[in-house]
Amino acid sequence: MEQKLKAILETGLAEIKLVKDKNSLLDFKIKYLGKQGELTSILRGMRDVQPQDRPKIGVLVNEVREKLEGAYLEKEKYFNDLDLQKELEKSSIDITEPSRGIERGELHPTTKMFNKLIDICVAMGFQVVEGPEIETDYYNFEGLNIPKNHPSRDMQDTFFITENILLRSQTSSVQVRAMESMKPPIKIIVPGRVYRNDSDGTHSPVFHQLEGLVIDENVSMADLKAMLTSMMGKVFGETTKIRFRPSFFPFTEPSVEVDVSCPSCKGTGCKVCKGSGYLELLGAGVVNPKVLEMSGIDSKKYRGFAFGFGVDRFAMVYYGITDLKNMFKNDARFLNQIK
Ligand code: PHE
Repeated sequence: MEQKLKAILETGLAEIKLVKDKNSLLDFKIKYLGKQGELTSILRGMRDVQPQDRPKIGVLVNEVREKLEGAYLEKEKYFNDLDLQKELEKSSIDITEPSRGIERGELHPTTKMFNKLIDICVAMGFQVVEGPEIETDYYNFEGLNIPKNHPSRDMQDTFFITENILLRSQTSSVQVRAMESMKPPIKIIVPGRVYRNDSDGTHSPVFHQLEGLVIDENVSMADLKAMLTSMMGKVFGETTKIRFRPSFFPFTEPSVEVDVSCPSCKGTGCKVCKGSGYLELLGAGVVNPKVLEMSGIDSKKYRGFAFGFGVDRFAMVYYGITDLKNMFKNDARFLNQIK
């Protein structure tokens, strides 16, 4: 019996060295370790062994089984590794290739400019107020001293939903709403989207404004000028110069158009400012007493000033964007360039 077991172990170990593939490995398993295998038949022959010899033979059988099993497992692992290796070689996934990274969006330049202006104004004590984009004729025009058929309506032709309801053409509509609902002193800014029947290379039918309104006792044009100078300095740099030109708005008297020295050439004249050294960026003025009275504010006691920026224009100047179309294209490649 002992002899037989040793012989099995020896031929087994010799045979497994010759195993060249998984099929012959399976044959080996069946022959030596299977239910009909050599070792099982030895165990079956135990009944012919003397009872006192049985434990010794039992231990020996187990030893031989363990050794053959060990050899078998080693070979099996070798074949599995080989398969994996082949699989990796032929597959196209390169696990060492660097990842493509996560694509990040970027805020729109108009949004960034809004945030910048709002931060500056809030630091100066302004409160942020909003109003509806779909507005009545009264808040957009009449309450701002722009009666029906007034020629100044021509400059702000907009989209009418009914004869009386329209898409607001200016955030100044919120001046009227604020004066009706708040008590002076009032110090608000109004960021918002506005609409006009206007579309060419430099005008979009949808654009954005930031309105400012201050109402208090003893405020004047001088305060307006000081405030705008300080604000523009914070946006474009402390050396920025501002220039007031007389203008006309029915809701301010006097009215001014405000120019800012060109941030691109610092006032010497370049392509951005078309050689003039200045950029026209906002309208402003002292609130017309008639407008105060219409909204129920005592014009003997209170005075006010107001200003309105075109925020898209600001953003274009600030970020050096030359084509207005890009501002409305919603192209991530464009947005990602503006840092
Ligand atoms: N609402 C005016 C416009 O859109 C700008 C403005 C605002 C002028 C406030 C004076 C005061 O043209």
